[in-house]
Amino acid sequence: QDTLKQLVLLSALFRLVVSQGDDQKQSRRSTGASETIETYNQFYNYVDLTRRLQALAQSYPHIASLSSIGRSVEGRELWVMRITVDPNKDTPGKPKFKYVGNMHGDETVSRQVLVYLVEYLLAKYGEEDRVTQLVNSTDIYIMPSMNPDGFEKSKEGDCEGENGGRNNARNKDLNRSFPDQFDGTTVSPDIVPEVTAVIKWIKEKKFVLSGNLHGGTVVASYPFDDSASHPQQDFYSQSEDDSLFRYLALVYSQNHPAMKTGWCCANL
Ligand SMILES: *[C@@H]1O[C@H](CO)[C@@H](O)[C@H](O)[C@H]1NC(C)=O
Ligand SMILES: *[C@@H]1O[C@H](CO)[C@@H](O)[C@H](O)[C@H]1NC(C)=O
Ligand SMILES: [Zn+2]
Repeated sequence: QDTLKQLVLLSALFRLVVSQGDDQKQSRRSTGASETIETYNQFYNYVDLTRRLQALAQSYPHIASLSSIGRSVEGRELWVMRITVDPNKDTPGKPKFKYVGNMHGDETVSRQVLVYLVEYLLAKYGEEDRVTQLVNSTDIYIMPSMNPDGFEKSKEGDCEGENGGRNNARNKDLNRSFPDQFDGTTVSPDIVPEVTAVIKWIKEKKFVLSGNLHGGTVVASYPFDDSASHPQQDFYSQSEDDSLFRYLALVYSQNHPAMKTGWCCANL
């Protein structure tokens, strides 16, 4: 129950960071060694993202550790920031949580906001009780971009996705490339190394809960999104943890300013 509370808190924090970003536009921060200036009003490219994450990890070595779980088709690192006390040690019983952003390369807000979430968790540790508690008791992994190649291809303002940034550099949709329990998809490391790396990572870490953040539509979906009888639609395929997932999706939607009003993209 406590773990659940912590994890719900993490989702709530995510929202908070989004609104903070708005308030802090233009504010300047120094982050130790490489003096990155954070403006909160523009997207990082791969080089900026890398520098920013490295600077954050350097400034908070007691609670942060940056590593790469593999490389994209074009050789970009798949960065993960691990945030917890003793970040280089596995503590039995400490639940592992992960957020993955920017899996569709042109769905970019999560990529940016996850870096702000990293900064928030690190900067508020020891200052804000709920952050301190979270970082004390949860093993948090944050991957701002699973598709750095797609991001580099994307153009700001291209809402139709005409630049092809959604897919990886071999033109594969990473979000349609994980193995499926019903249709026997296979995963080739040459074509979707990003997926291969994430599978290996998941097997190693045994996360108890994860969120994968997109920007293509307004929806909170949870397992399973398919069934033995798919592609049939409107078929409810519940997982064993259905009640927990429904609860989390509900809390998320009720705290989301647009979702809670019933607004969705179709209204555009
Ligand atoms: C977090 O852990 C530190 C070090 O063990 C401890 O001093 C502190 O009281 C803990 N804080 C919270 C809010 O759990
Ligand atoms: C990707 O998208 C589908 C919806 O089409 C969803 O069911 C699935 O869980 C998503 N996540 C991954 C990791 O592919
Ligand atoms: Zn998407």
